[in-house]
Amino acid sequence: QSTAPTQPVVGTIDIGTTSARAILFSQEGIEIAKHQIEYSTSASEAPAESKNKEQFRRRSSLMRHNEPIFTSEGIAISISDDVEIENNRASVGPTLRFPQPGWSECMPVHVLANAVQCLVACLITLRKVNQNPDLKIKYKVKALGIANMRETTIVWLKRTGKPLSNGITWTDTRTAEIVQHLEKMTDDDRKEELKQKTGLPLSTYFSAAKLRWLLDNDDTIREEYEKGDGNLMFGTVDTWLIYHLSKERSFVSDVTNASRTYFMDLETKDYDDDLLDFWGIDPTKICLPKIVSSSEHYGSFAAPNLSNLGFHNKITPEAYEILKTITGVPICGCLGDQSASLVGQLAFRAGSAKCTYGTGCFLLYNTGTRKLISDHGTLTTLGFWFPTLEGDDAQPHYALEGSIAVAGSIIQWLRDNLKLIENAKDIGPLASQVDNSGGVVFIPAFSGMYAPYWDGGARGTIFGMTQYTSSSHIARAALEGVCFQVRAILRAMASDAGGSEDFLEEASSIQGSKRPLSKLAVDGGMSKADEVLQIQADILGPCVDVKRAKISECTALGAAIAAGLSFKNPEDRIWKDLNDVIEKIDGPTDAQNSFKAKLPDNDRRTMWKRWENAVSRAKGWLD
Ligand code: G3P
Repeated sequence: QSTAPTQPVVGTIDIGTTSARAILFSQEGIEIAKHQIEYSTSASEAPAESKNKEQFRRRSSLMRHNEPIFTSEGIAISISDDVEIENNRASVGPTLRFPQPGWSECMPVHVLANAVQCLVACLITLRKVNQNPDLKIKYKVKALGIANMRETTIVWLKRTGKPLSNGITWTDTRTAEIVQHLEKMTDDDRKEELKQKTGLPLSTYFSAAKLRWLLDNDDTIREEYEKGDGNLMFGTVDTWLIYHLSKERSFVSDVTNASRTYFMDLETKDYDDDLLDFWGIDPTKICLPKIVSSSEHYGSFAAPNLSNLGFHNKITPEAYEILKTITGVPICGCLGDQSASLVGQLAFRAGSAKCTYGTGCFLLYNTGTRKLISDHGTLTTLGFWFPTLEGDDAQPHYALEGSIAVAGSIIQWLRDNLKLIENAKDIGPLASQVDNSGGVVFIPAFSGMYAPYWDGGARGTIFGMTQYTSSSHIARAALEGVCFQVRAILRAMASDAGGSEDFLEEASSIQGSKRPLSKLAVDGGMSKADEVLQIQADILGPCVDVKRAKISECTALGAAIAAGLSFKNPEDRIWKDLNDVIEKIDGPTDAQNSFKAKLPDNDRRTMWKRWENAVSRAKGWLD
């Protein structure tokens, strides 16, 4: 029997739009084990496995995985890296569906099964790590945290736990008519009143419109709603996961997720009758999860019975056995993924900002305990709320958010639909075969344009092509299209704070912060490509440097930090407070992760003019 001292680790589940992962983090923010699954997609009802049965069978088996790689310290790292995922895109089933143009759905049970599969793989790795005789300590999972794509709407029945329809994901635009109708019916004063409460514009993006659509269009859901017998449950992905992963069937939503439904008042941090009424939702007919902080004991882990949810053949008894090793561990940290990466980037203080290039791209600017409502097209959202801490740190922290719907997904589209590249990582080299886009401007408005433009009627558009245009120009223009929107968001945030729109040229500051925004902390899949970050630095100009996080999994780390801080007694916490987190995890940025503008100012100005011109032409395509 080993007498080695144990060290706590935090387990996190990170459910993104196109992938799921679980990571076990040490106190130093080191990944002790990691597993990631990229979702397979299905345009039709045909099961993805028919496309490649053997590949699917191999990836579906929970007990098949690569041997962990041991570092010199005896630490096991990622058992399923991006290369494997790139070449072997399959998961427990077709998790994503795009059944009609503009529609985007996820299979809630598959999302849950993917999360379980990732956890199991991590626990298998952990067991091997702990069996390593050279390791002087043993790791033990002490807390669990969740980070998740926000706004995605799931409706299920309490009596069965089963979803009543596919989840409608945040990028889905089927609600365009509902939103357009409300836009027309609502006068400007009322819109302003709603924005002051929610921090959000009227858009297809948020959960409210998606729930409205389900009630209007799905007969089963409407019938259950009309019965009003307390069986119909609504939730975002955090709620769905915590409900099924907790022994107590906890029905909660963390405040950062709830703030994206359009049902929550940012001040009271609770549902608002007026907002529910605006969307025609009667809370006596549908159960809404209790809104809770980002860091508290929500429930104790228990493996879900996936067979009962209609998911039969994938989870082996051995997998259930290993999940027992974390039965009872508290699920005690939860953040919407963009808030999670704000935390994971250690951007705890007002005036710090981060930008995550995932499926979409999201720039969050921490405004501290101050709720700032934008007049220039950015959102106000909850950054995090860690009530166990002291003083201001215990208060809810707000952020201005610039959301861009399409970022990494443009690379997927170039790969899967246009076949311009074979693997996502080829995008940087292809785009940098040319020095500029050759006059091409690509507006990647596949789900309309989000911040700061908010035009649901815009659609993806490519301008300026000639016979000279090559695939490299298109690839470069696609990346630039994301980076221009980041610039537009920073300008909008500067204007909101009463500063100059031209702060990127002038290096003035965003008000509310004593420091000028001289550094944009970036993370997310697309940020792994140096070429993307150089394009971003060139488009932002000399006043803002782009710094890539050393820890690439900031989103999962943020959820780990939330969970690790959740214990009431500081002695029980993984980190005592935010300073302790910074001390243990932070480190200097090295040169290879720092990007400065190299482009001459005049070229940047010309490119920006062209972009603005293109935006004005792309808007209102569907009007
Ligand atoms: O609001 C949507 C966002 O939470 C999705 O994030 O990482 O899947 O692009 P991601």
